[in-house]
Amino acid sequence: MQKIAIYPGSFDPITNGHIDIVERGLKIFDKIIVAILRNPAKETLFTVEERKEMIETSLNKYSNIEVDIFDGLLVNYAKKRNADTILRGMRAVSDFEYEFQLALMNRKLNREIQTVFLMTGLRWIFTSSSIIKEAASFGGNINGMVPPVVSWKLKEKFGFIEGNNRG
Ligand code: PNS
Repeated sequence: MQKIAIYPGSFDPITNGHIDIVERGLKIFDKIIVAILRNPAKETLFTVEERKEMIETSLNKYSNIEVDIFDGLLVNYAKKRNADTILRGMRAVSDFEYEFQLALMNRKLNREIQTVFLMTGLRWIFTSSSIIKEAASFGGNINGMVPPVVSWKLKEKFGFIEGNNRG
């Protein structure tokens, strides 16, 4: 039987830290579904469709990755997709409290689903979507912290590149 994990998140936008977790996860799972939460209550820089497209482009060399959009409870989505594992990345201790809370709530909601944490590579410990967006908004160089498509899209979004001028 295929071992499927759901890797959920906001991915606004996907970073090299996320990619690192996916690549580590692929050593354990046969298939990973990267699941983007559609959350109308949260203001995001990129639309959910833009985020999906960027993730697909960034991970297109892997045939066992699917990118999907979900809403509602994560455990319900995991069940619908026949996945009994939720994959989350852990950077520093600062992530721990929130992740612990999330994992325990998910366990309470569905005891059949386990959360697996993977540590990011050391070089991504301080990488987050928010800090990257902040740097990019002021024209900071974020190359090497995000996939090339994301770097381009961030520059375009913040007006550092003309929309159609792709050289
Ligand atoms: O990248 P993020 O923002 O840390 O991801 C958080 C996410 C999407 C994994 C979490 O908010 C989530 O699963 N939301 C869906 C609703 C849900 O099931 N919440 C947890 C139990 S209340």
